[in-house]
Amino acid sequence: MCGIVGYIGKKNTKKILLDGLKELEYRGYDSAGIAVLQQGEFSSYKATGKLINLQEKTKDFITDKFAVGIGHTRWATHGKPTELNAHPHVGESSYVVHNGIIENYAELKKELLTNGVTFLSQTDTEVIVHQFEKNLKTVSSPFEAFKETISQLQGAYAILLVTKSEPETIFFAKNGSPLLVGIDTDNDKYFASSDTPLIGYCSDVNYFEDGEYGYVTPDTLRIYSKEHQLQEPHFTKLPTNKLSAQKDGYRFFMEKEIYEQHDVITDTLLGRLSESSVHFDELETDFFEGIEEIKLCACGTSYHAALTASYLFERNSKIKTSVEVASELRYREPILSKDTLFVVISQSGETADTLETLKMAKNAGLKTLVICNVDNSSMVRLADASLLTRAGVEKGVASTKAFATQVTIFWMLSLYVAKEREALSQAEIIEQVALLREVPSSVKVSDALHERIKRLSKRYLHGHGFFFIGRDIFFPLALEGALKLKEISYLHAEGYPSGEMKHGPIALADPELFTIALLPQHLLYEKAKSNVEELSARDATICAISPLVFDKADDFIQTQSHKHYMLEFFEMMVILQLLSLEISIRLGNDVDMPRNLAKSVTVE
Ligand code: M6R
Repeated sequence: MCGIVGYIGKKNTKKILLDGLKELEYRGYDSAGIAVLQQGEFSSYKATGKLINLQEKTKDFITDKFAVGIGHTRWATHGKPTELNAHPHVGESSYVVHNGIIENYAELKKELLTNGVTFLSQTDTEVIVHQFEKNLKTVSSPFEAFKETISQLQGAYAILLVTKSEPETIFFAKNGSPLLVGIDTDNDKYFASSDTPLIGYCSDVNYFEDGEYGYVTPDTLRIYSKEHQLQEPHFTKLPTNKLSAQKDGYRFFMEKEIYEQHDVITDTLLGRLSESSVHFDELETDFFEGIEEIKLCACGTSYHAALTASYLFERNSKIKTSVEVASELRYREPILSKDTLFVVISQSGETADTLETLKMAKNAGLKTLVICNVDNSSMVRLADASLLTRAGVEKGVASTKAFATQVTIFWMLSLYVAKEREALSQAEIIEQVALLREVPSSVKVSDALHERIKRLSKRYLHGHGFFFIGRDIFFPLALEGALKLKEISYLHAEGYPSGEMKHGPIALADPELFTIALLPQHLLYEKAKSNVEELSARDATICAISPLVFDKADDFIQTQSHKHYMLEFFEMMVILQLLSLEISIRLGNDVDMPRNLAKSVTVE
């Protein structure tokens, strides 16, 4: 997804912009560019593909004086990933970078074209710079022109604009796409669309709210609310530790993040468990009062965590629970009743569809909760309450540790609600709280396990597809296993409830159809086993994952013997993540930045 950086000051602007863009690489992009205004002249460079191409193009470009600069990594939405479509976009004497989508760009463009403006790109973004320059001709100052431009835009945006008509200024605006400004000890200002590019440069940052706009100069930072009131900035401390954002010797961030699950789940549990109950300081004691139903809503992997949660809520908390794909819920005019707690789940807290459903629920007067990994993200700021997953920065596009911590939080929350509603006995809660403490060890990767999966992976590089199958709560895990495999290996994979195979999919069974079968000991083992036997009888190639030896499988990964199905769930989750990782590595794919995908999907 697109990323933005900006800087105003006397330091090495080119380096600051390129370093910042590098930090945003993990979000996924297909082109990048910078524009720097130095001594009254603009220099702009753009390149498609990886950042190395932009670095190569700018290698002789020197920024050793006061300058204002903006940079962008683009993930194509309107127009192909070409150099012309890459940001920054240029007008007569101004440049703009933009994240989001300008919904009324076609109308604005039509009018600008009638006025004789020439467009160089196919993007929605380019209208911003031309509209600004058009306004500049009729109002008293560049700031007024910028303000006027913002009021003419509909849609979602984070915008930085620089112009020769005010060469010591960066104009900014934010609505629906994240943007923050940081300052360093020399009072130089930095912009970014997430905080990672600013770590190491700034100690304090201000996250802009929707509708805010304004400008920075070497001495000033002016922020206006959407009601055009001057705002005081609210600076908060930026984390300083960049180490966790590096690979630590692993081949890929995804691999590092799989191994980190033991530690991050420990953090997720920290301070939230006592002997006999679960505590969330973040929730008011009466938070669940009057709540008769839970509606969970998310996208992708977070949706699979939501599906998993629905089994836990109904089984443990005895509360009616439904699950929604955010992009579907948005437009299907759902009936939302006020005794429903609306829960959104998101690693990033910025996913556009999920964020919009949160707004919908709020507008309908529902109580809202977000399960999120990123503090200060849009969803965390908007929801009535938030539970942070504490997974740390997740750089691999394929979500792993975020999912693990989301499921952990949900298991805890189901017990928290169970206690409130007296849905489980005290003894049952004590038993599950003790089991929760065993989750970190259930996700520890042993050398033997990783080695086994590495060897096995070479047998699964071809064929005409994969089925991941499981029953009950292992069905959402099967869906997640299939998503993991397809997004990084580009092999076709589907997740199915084991019992559904005979209703159609089994027709595909043959030796070139690979079935990854989840066979936990403590949940419907016999039933799931017969479903796998049906596939085996039709000569499908089967890789069974179970603590109990299963001789009808072609391959078998034996898990540890756990006391409870949730511990089996977590161990199998790791196995599926490692299997996808190793298949993808053998196929020579870019594991951390798979094709066509972005880490944070901030457009619908
Ligand atoms: O940041 P979010 O959790 O809201 O992101 C939702 C999905 O885009 C995300 O989980 C996606 O499916 C991942 N690539 C899966 O690995």
